[in-house]
Amino acid sequence: MTGRRSGLSKDAAAREIEKLRRDVSYHDHRYYVLDDPEISDAEYDRLRERLVELEEEFPELVTPSSPTQRVGAPPLEAFREVRHSIPMLSLSNAFGEEGMLEFDARVKKLLVDADGLQYVAEPKLDGVAIELVYEKGRLSVGSTRGDGTTGEDVTQNLRTVRSIPLKLISEGKGTIPGLLEVRGEVIMRTSQFKRLNEERRQQEEPLFANPRNAAAGSLRQLDSSVTASRPLEVYFHGIGRVEGLSFRTHQELLSFLPRVGLRVSPLVKLCEDIHEAAVYYNDMMKMRDALEYEIDGVVIKVNELAQQEALGAISRSPRWALAVKFPGRQATTEILDIVVQVGRTGALTPVAVMEPVNLGGVTVSRATLHNQDEIDRKDVRIGDTVVVQRAGDVIPEVVSVVTSKRSGSERKFSLPEKCPVCGVGVVRLEGEVASRCVGMACAAKLRQSIRHFASKRAMDIEGLGGKTIEQLIEKELVASVADLYSLEKSELLKLERMGEKLAENILASIERSKNTTLPRLIFALGIRHVGEHLSRLLAEHFGRALDGSGGPADRGEQRTPSLGVLGRLAFAGQEELEQVGEVGPQVAQSIRSFFAQKENVDIIARLFAAGVTIAAGEPRAESGLAGKSFVFTGILERHAREEARRIVESLGGRVAHQVSRKVDFAVVGRDPGSKVDRARELGLRILTEQEFEELVREG
Ligand code: IVH
Repeated sequence: MTGRRSGLSKDAAAREIEKLRRDVSYHDHRYYVLDDPEISDAEYDRLRERLVELEEEFPELVTPSSPTQRVGAPPLEAFREVRHSIPMLSLSNAFGEEGMLEFDARVKKLLVDADGLQYVAEPKLDGVAIELVYEKGRLSVGSTRGDGTTGEDVTQNLRTVRSIPLKLISEGKGTIPGLLEVRGEVIMRTSQFKRLNEERRQQEEPLFANPRNAAAGSLRQLDSSVTASRPLEVYFHGIGRVEGLSFRTHQELLSFLPRVGLRVSPLVKLCEDIHEAAVYYNDMMKMRDALEYEIDGVVIKVNELAQQEALGAISRSPRWALAVKFPGRQATTEILDIVVQVGRTGALTPVAVMEPVNLGGVTVSRATLHNQDEIDRKDVRIGDTVVVQRAGDVIPEVVSVVTSKRSGSERKFSLPEKCPVCGVGVVRLEGEVASRCVGMACAAKLRQSIRHFASKRAMDIEGLGGKTIEQLIEKELVASVADLYSLEKSELLKLERMGEKLAENILASIERSKNTTLPRLIFALGIRHVGEHLSRLLAEHFGRALDGSGGPADRGEQRTPSLGVLGRLAFAGQEELEQVGEVGPQVAQSIRSFFAQKENVDIIARLFAAGVTIAAGEPRAESGLAGKSFVFTGILERHAREEARRIVESLGGRVAHQVSRKVDFAVVGRDPGSKVDRARELGLRILTEQEFEELVREG
């Protein structure tokens, strides 16, 4: 309840609510079905908020088909069964053009009058088949296909899918059939599937094998609020029972559906003969990778419904339709070797080098094995015959091992203990799946390391942007952050778009950065999990005894005097590190493994030798963001996710993965997922990336 009263009479409220519902549904349709919004998100939010407000004030006026009523049904114990009034048949399959010609010949033979025979060609969406029942235009039941005769009642879940209208659009009296059973496919876009899996990976939940499994898993949830948080969409391609309406052709039906708000794939095509349909099949195969969702073939249907009826069905498949499958995207091949790639954050990814194999028209010779846990779980060995798959634009991956093909000469694989790029140690922190290189100057992550080092909250080297850093690395002028301090003007002037003035400014700010504080220096090192906030705590704890005379950490190791004030931190043991508030075993391990690398210690020593000096601490007032919780969604343009998390944490905030009432801010990037809808529904504060930056600055 907002507590704010509208001052409206019930009648006036009912009228306004009615209008708002029409408007919100209209804009939902423009956005989710037509993909063509007319108003800004803010305007839409205002309409919706007003509707929610009025419905809260007049709860007796709430109806199930109100656009506010998509979520909120209590979780079910089990799904009810639903009998389809007309069975949902399956399709007989064929591969390629030859199968299509056979189908065409069969159809022509069976039809007494094959004159004017046309086909409608459609993409075969790789999702979950559903049926929706609209009674007098209102969605009453939604079910899965099940065994074709009986499916599961997933009405509550389907109501959360925004491209499914709760109420059909009416073009005037008598345009909505009394009963309409409509059939379609629930899908998840490949990009959304990847995002969902990435979130699940971060939360260490099991991954979905492909978008279809993700869609099916999302639809079969007893708690519809889980479905609501998943980015599902629907396309319709057929009907069941209909009352009060009839069609002459399939094409007519497909043009009717969008008029009442039911989305039909824009890729359907009327074909004058089977040859046109074959061209369509080839075109679709070429388009396949560029589509935003998975299709596994095309479906060819006889256009005229009277001809469909005449053809009938045999053994649960209609004789008037054919699924023409694309070549599979799974294949078996042999693993010749396993190599290791080092990513920009230092994460090591094992990659299988394979005997080249054709996956749905693309030759593939490398596939990701993700990480050591996955290798162990699937027990993948060099020399194994494996099943590999490629889905959409997802990188090929090894799915499983064909153990029956083992000869005994296969070799097990473990990720190396030294980084294959820089030779420095590799560490897998407790509770993480990725093994990472901890080398400060590893070429794989140098660009990011230097960016971080020079950033405002670290050493604050003004003017040293990403492009400059890239060129410095490319021209081999810097190979570690320590090299920044020996840069000369003549070297900087070798870079593109570098003038005298800019070069002087950069050198001046490099010089200025030498006078820093201990928290900044610790933060600048880029130790995993050591953000700004922790850097401050560590500096407080380890920076006190600046005289460098022993102390609890001095356990007899060879001290490196040149490490100066960092000495105590560098040689601290697990126990002492964990004494620092907020430092857990994982962070302690991360710090220890960082300083255990001689290469890192050398670089730090060079920093001090170059004149980096520590001024007295820089106590900061408690930030206004302390204790606040953030959710990030969509593609962030200005920050890496990890960086955004560090910023929030450094200010004492927290990053949540799921939208809930406990979250204060939702930061929304490009192409956001359904989290943003949920955030809106919960009334969280929604920020653009720029607004987030402003908040942080004020913080
Ligand atoms: S027509 C009798 N059209 O493929 C007609 N099905 O094995 C049956 N599918 O369960 C369905 N895209 O879920 C049809 N454009 C399309 C389709 C399509 C995907 C699925 C459908 C069905 C399965 C058939």
